[in-house]
Amino acid sequence: VDLKDKHSFALTAFAHHVQRVQSKADIATIEWHPDAFILGAGSNTVFTHDFCGHLIINQLQGFTVERKDAYYQVTIGAGEDWHQCVERLLEQGIFGLENLALIPGSVGAAPVQNIGAYGVEVAQFIACVRGVDLRSQTAFELSQDACQFGYRTSIFKQPEYASWLITEVVFHLPFSWRPHLGYPDLAHLAEDVSAREVFDTVVEVRKRKLPDPKVLPNAGSFFKNPVISATQCRKLRQRYPDLRYFELPNGDCKLAAAWLIDQAGLKSLRVGGAGVHQRQALVLVNSNQATGQDLIQLAQQVRKQVEQRFNVRLEPEVLLLGERGHIEL
Ligand code: EPU
Repeated sequence: VDLKDKHSFALTAFAHHVQRVQSKADIATIEWHPDAFILGAGSNTVFTHDFCGHLIINQLQGFTVERKDAYYQVTIGAGEDWHQCVERLLEQGIFGLENLALIPGSVGAAPVQNIGAYGVEVAQFIACVRGVDLRSQTAFELSQDACQFGYRTSIFKQPEYASWLITEVVFHLPFSWRPHLGYPDLAHLAEDVSAREVFDTVVEVRKRKLPDPKVLPNAGSFFKNPVISATQCRKLRQRYPDLRYFELPNGDCKLAAAWLIDQAGLKSLRVGGAGVHQRQALVLVNSNQATGQDLIQLAQQVRKQVEQRFNVRLEPEVLLLGERGHIEL
């Protein structure tokens, strides 16, 4: 099976064993292999090489809404498209997820890396995540706390949980709604803005800044925004008064990796068919039939040059897969 259209970075790669999961009956037929990998829509996973393990593609559907005392309980199948669900909820007058509009990927992938944008993370709306541990075929249900959500991370990213197939995600979306306008891109909106206007603005901003994976293949932010100590941040700011950063509640600072890459002069960097995106330096793109090696070398060069200049190490935000599974950069 050609994986080019199974991951949004669209590198050429093949897999021999591919199983689609569309129903409970399908789940029961899966035999877990240590080299298996569960894939959603492939917008945060990059196949840098042919994949020799068993690929399980999660396409479970489902969408139900229940009215509770003070919130809507929305249960969505892991294989549903994230953006379509955000829009569908908005049309039904159910608000809260509009800052997360247009994020590529499936609903089941949203908790895995705790998707976030424009000051909102999905974790705050997740009541629980349900699924099946394919190793033992036992069902699980993890509460919000048990998911151990952090910045672009959760329990599901730990290697021990590789066999946990998410079947559905349960969201609690309160009746009472207020907009989250703290992020600079939304700060111009008035406090009495509607959820639809926030949604439209987010869609417009993302279309303007981020390349459409269907037109210019990419996997969104390639690196995480690095977190450094307050002391290190102070030192960096003395040398770079323009440094873009965000102070975390514990005093640490989260730096804008896009700014570091941009300031290091890397926006024109290319390796083979892979390059740094012109409008958003944190996004690496497959502009001309890149190979996995092109991308890996490009990412290594970006990391090296940022480290040399700022003494800050970038960690990938995407999941890189090699022949046998997860690979380090
Ligand atoms: N900037 C530059 N050069 C650039 C791009 C940006 O200097 O080429 C500066 C901007 O001026 C801004 C700062 O860098 O001051 C931050 O940029 P931006 O607001 O675009 O956001 P980001 O920190 O680069 C994060 C998320 C995105 C999310 C946006 C909006 C991560 C790794 N990325 O990017 O998420 O959409 O904020 O909330 O946290 C993703 O995870 O795949 C993703 C796209």
